[in-house]
Amino acid sequence: MKSLVIYSSQTGNTKKLAESTCEYLPNGTLLCPVDEAPDPSDYDFVAVGFWLKAGKPDPKSAGYLERLKGHPKVFLFATHGANPDSEHVKNAMARAQSIAEGANFAGSFSCYGEVNPKVLDKVKAKPQPPVWIDDATHAVGHPDKGDLERLRLSIASVVN
Ligand SMILES: Cc1cc2nc3c(=O)[nH]c(=O)nc-3n(C[C@H](O)[C@H](O)[C@H](O)COP(=O)(O)O)c2cc1C
Repeated sequence: MKSLVIYSSQTGNTKKLAESTCEYLPNGTLLCPVDEAPDPSDYDFVAVGFWLKAGKPDPKSAGYLERLKGHPKVFLFATHGANPDSEHVKNAMARAQSIAEGANFAGSFSCYGEVNPKVLDKVKAKPQPPVWIDDATHAVGHPDKGDLERLRLSIASVVN
């Protein structure tokens, strides 16, 4: 199985998941930032990692997801300030799936990702702070060891 892991990451959270995803996949898996991503149709399995921006996959990842329409095996992973069980995150995952319309989704994983404190202060100061802002205090220190272990189990269920 020829596998590819693509990610977008501003502060390193999603990159951390991407590196672990690559480790959990068979030897020879290619790890690539989204800016250097190859044609996904050359790969049997593509894992795409994004961070949430305004309730959606970040724009660069969204662009790559467009190229995955109809792909036979896709795995999604993400980091965010919102609670992983929130509607906000569920909607964002659904959005990612709808961008890559017609792809076969083998699985997905997401977890908290610590939010840059400067961004947090800015967002908190808005007249109407976004819904995820109260959850973001719980994101400090994530992704952590437990997140990476849950990711490993998620990948194992897809690969085996
Ligand atoms: C401009 C901006 C917008 C964000 N919007 C959201 C959002 O809508 N929902 C959310 O849960 N987290 C949001 N976040 C938090 C990031 O998704 C989170 O910190 C993520 O782990 C960052 O990943 P990275 O370190 O790979 O860049 C936002 C962060 C930034 C900088």
